Amino acid sequence: MDKQKKMAFVQGASRGLGLEITRQLLARDPTLRVFASCRAPADAASLSGLQAAHPGRLDLVQLDVTDESSIERAAARFSETSSRAHLVLNVAGVLHGPGFGPEKKLGHVEPDALRTVFEINAFGPLLVAKHFHRFLRHGERSVFASLSARVGSISDNRLGGWYAYRASKAAQNMFTKTLAIELGRIAPNAIAVGLHPGTVDTDLSKPFQRNVPDETLLTPTESASSLLRVLDGLTPEQSGRVFDFRGEEVLP
Ligand SMILES: NC(=O)c1ccc[n+]([C@@H]2O[C@H](COP(=O)([O-])OP(=O)(O)OC[C@H]3O[C@@H](n4cnc5c(N)ncnc54)[C@H](OP(=O)(O)O)[C@@H]3O)[C@@H](O)[C@H]2O)c1
Repeated sequence: MDKQKKMAFVQGASRGLGLEITRQLLARDPTLRVFASCRAPADAASLSGLQAAHPGRLDLVQLDVTDESSIERAAARFSETSSRAHLVLNVAGVLHGPGFGPEKKLGHVEPDALRTVFEINAFGPLLVAKHFHRFLRHGERSVFASLSARVGSISDNRLGGWYAYRASKAAQNMFTKTLAIELGRIAPNAIAVGLHPGTVDTDLSKPFQRNVPDETLLTPTESASSLLRVLDGLTPEQSGRVFDFRGEEVLP
């Protein structure tokens, strides 16, 4: 058991922001060991490449947030290496998928799509918290963060639409706040936050980039480095809140 090394767990690291955050975590701190999860590690060529570039520092684990037993198994794998995590980061999220996309009006709302989006975006981070919070209770500063979205802010909702995605991220934010209160009692140095990464050029945003001005569309590299900077500066007093990639609070 490696008790001395700093440990991070990145959930949803196969591509997009999760892959870039994993890459930057490994590059910037040679003492950090990273566990990265994805649904199909055998197909995650980019993660395997990172693993080869950082021998002994990157472990790949299988995890599908819609399958709680896979989260439990990932936590068991993590515990074989360490009893402590300094960062647990939920990245996985969906806006569109096979047969569903963001609803423009009520007539587009489909119960199956609502269930899928909530399961991945809201229930996923909560179940990861359920199985990984024990690793945050070591007394040193630790952060549990989930990628949220500005459109999950109720007070910021001016355009409507995107029922499932907006509400799933709002629910995620409430789970984060509730988790922060519980962590405040049992692990006062643990911080739980949501993070808005900006509008980032990934598969998730591709179909919706037409109306995004070039100067506001971030590369995954830009967004990931900003998010890591924000994570570095968080204090326990900020636990339970949501911050954007510039470190500005996104109000509920
Ligand atoms: N891009 C943006 O503009 C933007 C804006 C605001 C918020 N966000 C949030 O940022 C996060 C990352 O988004 P992204 O842009 O990097 O998206 P992305 O490139 O589409 O990547 C999504 C990730 O989620 C994973 N995933 C999907 N379903 C999963 C499941 N059931 N279990 C485990 N993993 C699953 C995918 O894994 P597979 O490879 O296995 O499918 C992939 O790694 C999301 O939470 C998103 O809501 C993004």
